[in-house]
Amino acid sequence: MHSASAKIILLGEHAVVYGQPAIAVPFPALTATAHATDAPPGDGLTILAHDVGRVLRVHLDDETPDNALTYAAQLTLHALNARPPDLSIEIRSTIPIGSGFGSGAAVTAALIRSLSAALGHSLDGDALNTLVYEVEKMHHGTPSGIDNTVIVFGRPVYFVRGQTPEPFSVGRALHFLVSDSGVSASTRETVGDVRRLVDSEPEQYGGHIEAIGHIVREARGCLEAGDAAALGALMIQDHDLLRALTVSSGLLDRLVEAALGAGALGAKLSGGGRGGNVIALVTPEQAGRVAAALREAGAHQLWPMTLEAR
Ligand code: PMV
Repeated sequence: MHSASAKIILLGEHAVVYGQPAIAVPFPALTATAHATDAPPGDGLTILAHDVGRVLRVHLDDETPDNALTYAAQLTLHALNARPPDLSIEIRSTIPIGSGFGSGAAVTAALIRSLSAALGHSLDGDALNTLVYEVEKMHHGTPSGIDNTVIVFGRPVYFVRGQTPEPFSVGRALHFLVSDSGVSASTRETVGDVRRLVDSEPEQYGGHIEAIGHIVREARGCLEAGDAAALGALMIQDHDLLRALTVSSGLLDRLVEAALGAGALGAKLSGGGRGGNVIALVTPEQAGRVAAALREAGAHQLWPMTLEAR
């Protein structure tokens, strides 16, 4: 069995597409798994995607597969110079789709790990990351590469598009509540809409992008110093800028307000927006009250997440 966990963007989504930094962490409460079993000789390669009810046959000669899993398998076979083996790979995932958790990248990473292992290869992180990024383009159009990077390497990253991701230290353990709104939304669409805004009014919206970058650089210092109060204030500013970029929604704003009203140090949408999840930064003492407020405001699912001091 091979797996990959979900991810959470702490700060910097959308601006990261324009070369600004973003900070993301693995979210192991949610995972995608791939389980390979031998198939009878001559049966070829089949992917069983239970969660979306698909059975996919993989042929090397398909021109442009319209399915990301088929594409991932083909890219892997090409990279390893292999023919489709007689194999059945079952994919399962607990990661909500279109919810800012990196579901696409996690499922792809688990599948490629499973297929390459069955072919007797273990891809290193960089090789796997390159393949998952290719597939991300099918999901997202112009991905920054943050999802595949944090999911493939499985550790917190300070990420700038096109640069080697930097690890960072965390001065004191930080406690978050992650709440899924239960609404799925297309990151391809929100990224496209932000692009149109930035192109149409570069001064105003390009300014928001730069302001987010500034927030993320400051936030890194807060994480390193373990300054939760200052980090929370930056999260609130980041959410306001994402709202101005039109990627929030009534429900996401209500979740953020509910968390702040119950005493959270900070709260913001996380990921592509218009749906997906909201993260709130809390002290352990506040967690129960903030969780209750989030549920009351319409949180569909809720998980605690601790970023340990490192
Ligand atoms: O996959 P999501 O919804 O978490 O969004 C990824 C973050 C964006 O910055 C919105 C897009 C990107 O490619 O970085």
